[in-house]
This record gives sequence, structure tokens and C-alpha cells, in this order.
Amino acid sequence: MLVTLVAAIAENGVIGRGNALPWRLKSDMAHFRALTIGKPVIMGRKTYLSIGKPLGGRTTIVVSRDPAFAAPGVLVAGTLDTALAAARGDALRRGTDIVIAGGADIYAQAMPLASRLEVTHVHKTVDGDARFPAIEHAVWREAGRVEHMPGAGDEAAFAFVAYERA
Ligand SMILES: NC(=O)c1ccc[n+]([C@@H]2O[C@H](COP(=O)([O-])OP(=O)(O)OC[C@H]3O[C@@H](n4cnc5c(N)ncnc54)[C@H](OP(=O)(O)O)[C@@H]3O)[C@@H](O)[C@H]2O)c1
Repeated sequence: MLVTLVAAIAENGVIGRGNALPWRLKSDMAHFRALTIGKPVIMGRKTYLSIGKPLGGRTTIVVSRDPAFAAPGVLVAGTLDTALAAARGDALRRGTDIVIAGGADIYAQAMPLASRLEVTHVHKTVDGDARFPAIEHAVWREAGRVEHMPGAGDEAAFAFVAYERA
């Protein structure tokens, strides 16, 4: 089963600040939707709370160690393995890959299991408290890159880059 990490990363590795995205990038919102629609999407409890609702048209699977955590319209898993097992069944039925949508804690645990990274490199350095793990060039090779100038609602230029295992 293919596991894909989908993330937007600043030039200094930052992905979040104060449990929110540290930029406004409308184009990346649309890109995220296109990459994830119709798929099972796994995220950490903090990322889920920052979004505040299930992702439409996707199976939202939230990982939390809190047995009391529940939210309408999402599957809650007590371990990453349980989340992946639920996602695997859903992905098989749908004929898709499994998406890991963050945050920093979940990316760090899931990166060794991933076969693909779909990264939006945001061409900006930002302050933040959540970071993506280093993308080691011995492990990951760039499989595609499309550079974009900022569009309406984008506060920086960015590149959509796909990585596969080297
Ligand atoms: N730029 C991007 O692409 C992007 C994408 C996503 C998120 N973000 C940002 O990343 C930040 C959030 O990241 P984060 O690292 O603080 O939090 P997170 O990864 O979203 O969630 C962490 C929580 O997930 C649960 N968890 C983690 N590992 C687990 C495991 N093995 N088993 C069970 N539960 C587990 C725990 O929840 P409990 O405490 O409930 O046990 C933990 O506190 C925010 O700033 C957000 O905006 C950025």
C-alpha cells in the first residue's frame, strides 16, 4: 500500500506556528484538495483541531492517545498503526494511496513508512514551532517540480515537488 506524505514547508523547514499554518497560500489549499480528494487522510489530533472539521470527500482519520477524544465525522485511532490499518482498508476499497497530512509529530513517525512525498516548498523563511523532518537526499530523489509565482491569495512563490525513494 502506498503511503504519501503531503506537506507545505518553508525554506527553513517550518510547517506551523501556534497550531496554525504560518502563511496564506490559497493555491496550496487547492493543491492539497486535489492530492487528497477521495482518499483516506491521517492526521494528528493537533492538526485536526487546527482544521476543526472533517475533510469533505475524504476519510479523515485522527490519531490520539486520549481514549476520550472523539469528533463527529472522523475515525479516531489510538496508535499510528491502527490508523494505518483503517486507512489501508479504505484505500483498498477506493483504489487510492494513503495520505499522511501532518503535523510535525505524525510526519516524523510516518516518514520511514512513506513511499512518496508531495511537498509544497514555500519560498519564504518563517518563524514557527513545528518543523518537517529533513528530506535526506540519500533517501529521497526529486521526481517532479513545478515552480509557481504567487497567485491571488498567495503570500509567497512556491514549488510543487514530488519525491520518491532514491
Ligand atoms: N504546513 C503543513 O503542511 C502542515 C500540515 C499539517 C500540520 N501543520 C502544522 O503542524 C502543527 C501541528 O503539528 P504537531 O506536531 O504539533 O501535532 P500533530 O502531529 O498534528 O498532532 C500530535 C498529536 O497526535 C497524537 N499522536 C501523535 N503520535 C501518536 C501516536 N503514535 N499514537 C497516538 N496518537 C499520536 C497525539 O495526540 P494526543 O495529545 O491527543 O494524544 C499528539 O499530541 C500545526 O502548527 C499545524 O498547523 C502544517
